[in-house]
Amino acid sequence: MSQLIQGVRGMHDILPEEAERWELFEELVRGWLHDYGYRPIRTPAVEFTGLFVRGVGEYTDIVEKEMYTWVDHLNGEQLTLRPEGTASCVRSVIEHSLLHAGPQRLYYHGPMFRHERPAKGRYRQFHQFGIEALGFAGPDIDAEHILMCARLWNDLGLEDDITLEINSLGSSEERALHREALIAYFELHREQLDADALRRLHANPLRILDTKNPAMQALVEAAPKLMDYLGDASRAHFEGVQSVLRDAGIPCRVNPRLVRGLDYYNRTVFEWVTDKLGAQATVCAGGRYDGLVEQLGGKPTPACGFAMGMERLLLLWSDVQNDAARPPLDVYLVHQGEQASRLAFRVAEQLRDDGFAVVLHCGGGSFKSQMKKADASCATIAVVIGDDEAIAEEVSFKPLREGGEQRRLPAAQLGEALAALLYNVEDENGSV
Ligand code: HAM
Repeated sequence: MSQLIQGVRGMHDILPEEAERWELFEELVRGWLHDYGYRPIRTPAVEFTGLFVRGVGEYTDIVEKEMYTWVDHLNGEQLTLRPEGTASCVRSVIEHSLLHAGPQRLYYHGPMFRHERPAKGRYRQFHQFGIEALGFAGPDIDAEHILMCARLWNDLGLEDDITLEINSLGSSEERALHREALIAYFELHREQLDADALRRLHANPLRILDTKNPAMQALVEAAPKLMDYLGDASRAHFEGVQSVLRDAGIPCRVNPRLVRGLDYYNRTVFEWVTDKLGAQATVCAGGRYDGLVEQLGGKPTPACGFAMGMERLLLLWSDVQNDAARPPLDVYLVHQGEQASRLAFRVAEQLRDDGFAVVLHCGGGSFKSQMKKADASCATIAVVIGDDEAIAEEVSFKPLREGGEQRRLPAAQLGEALAALLYNVEDENGSV
């Protein structure tokens, strides 16, 4: 036997039991997005590296050290596996002039790739549902996004596990003033900065506020607050968002140190966090990015959005959603003999025409071993066809779960009898 080539570290198989839960979750999320009028958009997993350098920001962790980037040996193009969906979505919207038709409410989902240190809730291939609203300037849409999330947590039964933090990053001019003040402040305390902070001091001092280094917490706590540099328009926008949240009864904590790890944000930013997943606390995050469309080559267009990490949400959800997610299987069809096998194929297709979920036994074997498979399949009913049934164009069937007699009847009447048994629909003879 050859040695197994295993999967890549930080990139996971999602096995059937878990994948069924994912599908249930995706279905729920799609319904929720539809109810808010969001439409799907699908973009490729690979983009030109420059899109993320320009969109996400040259000095962000994502661009500096987490991107899967390579040079296409056929034509020398520099390509990257998308680390997030916003830049791709905006590129696509600009490239296909979607904004000519007016503001857009869009969503996407799929795998994203970041070369991070793998841990519970942190993977190198992970999945996001992302929501982007382009062409909306007011605080109403920021608030809509937060309200949407709150509804989803309720629908999932996670409302007690996830809390909201928000902040305003103001405008680029306001951030520039704050940035000068920050640089001056950190210069004054240069000896307390670690290597990461020193490197960021002039390139991206805002990110120093995000440091996890315990030795720098006091320094960061006392640093000039961006909130104190916000002008009237930014303050009014932030107040507008908070007033909708108050009206809707959604509690939130204003966290002045919430700066986000991607450079495109301005004004509202928010994160939904949990204390149930250790260090990987953020299950959903986003905010406003009014400059990104122009920065990527489009006309100036206000926009905002958010993305949720599916793995993290599913880790939380599996604690409250204990029911088996496996979709019900109606029939396991057992058969033996050549003529029986022919009839079995016909019967199985006929039952599927009638809307039943049917697994047709494949691979032969004795009736006994096939019945064992039927039991293990979680089907509600076993349909049995032997050659004597086949000669008479008949089938036998037997409920597998709640006991019940084996019955034999003409193959043509099976659909009706199953409907009576499974859905309490009366069959021709009036029996249920
Ligand atoms: P982000 O904060 O980088 O934002 O990622 C959003 C969410 O994706 C995180 O809150 C987390 O749940 C999940 N996530 C991120 N990295 C990992 C990882 N390595 N493993 C597992 N889950 C992860 C964005 O990506 C922005 N594009 C969000 C956005 C959309 N902003 C505006 N529109």
